[in-house]
Amino acid sequence: MAKRNRNSWQRKTINKTGHHRKKNTKKGQYIVRDEYAIKAQKAGYRARSVYKLLELQERFDLIQPDYSVIDVGAAPGSFLQAIRNIVREKPVLWIDIKQIKPFSYPNVMTIQESIFEFEKLKPQVKEIFWEEKVDLITSDIAPNTTWIKDVDQYASVELNIAICEFADEFLKKWWNLILKVFKWEDFNDLAMQVRKRFHRMTEYKPMACRDRSFEMYLIWFDKKK
Ligand SMILES: C[S@@+](CC[C@H](N)C(=O)[O-])C[C@H]1O[C@@H](n2cnc3c(N)ncnc32)[C@H](O)[C@@H]1O
Repeated sequence: MAKRNRNSWQRKTINKTGHHRKKNTKKGQYIVRDEYAIKAQKAGYRARSVYKLLELQERFDLIQPDYSVIDVGAAPGSFLQAIRNIVREKPVLWIDIKQIKPFSYPNVMTIQESIFEFEKLKPQVKEIFWEEKVDLITSDIAPNTTWIKDVDQYASVELNIAICEFADEFLKKWWNLILKVFKWEDFNDLAMQVRKRFHRMTEYKPMACRDRSFEMYLIWFDKKK
């Protein structure tokens, strides 16, 4: 009897993508572990999301050693680890509303602030880059999820529109922006905003995105001005 219960638990918790629920917390929630999370941990990356950026890099070759980069929505910092493996000298800035455990790289700077607080961010960013704009802005930003699809995707679109406004000020003309959005009904509101600013866009969903997730990465090329 005990054996049958165990087998049925395994059938329920290991799905076809190799994701499985590792242990339950006090609240009865499950921590999701999968091959990317395990791989990231072994490689010393702070999050599994690094494999999304690495795949985008492999496919589109977006980050170059002589680029200055801003990563928005950056905590805990795995994108930044991958970026820093390429960009060794030029400044790399990461921004997140959460406190970020610092890295000891001399070219990496941190601002703890919400992307919605543009007036507060502006002088802090200028202090780092002076009047220079950057070569690339990356973002993996995500709102606190409620798991109510409409609510989450609306919040994701709003965050991304704020990043577009940020890019107006801090991204160089002709350069690129990587965004992540929860793609659903309000997506056109974001697309409209970004099309005004960039010449072309490609959508890409890396293998490391969870099957059930409706997140999508958007690469916007060639900023208009
Ligand atoms: C999926 S995590 C990013 C993971 C990161 N790319 C990595 O590789 O470690 C999304 C991040 O967006 C941040 N975020 C959410 N709302 C924000 C806001 N208003 N301003 C700045 N960051 C925000 C969250 O705090 C969270 O750290």
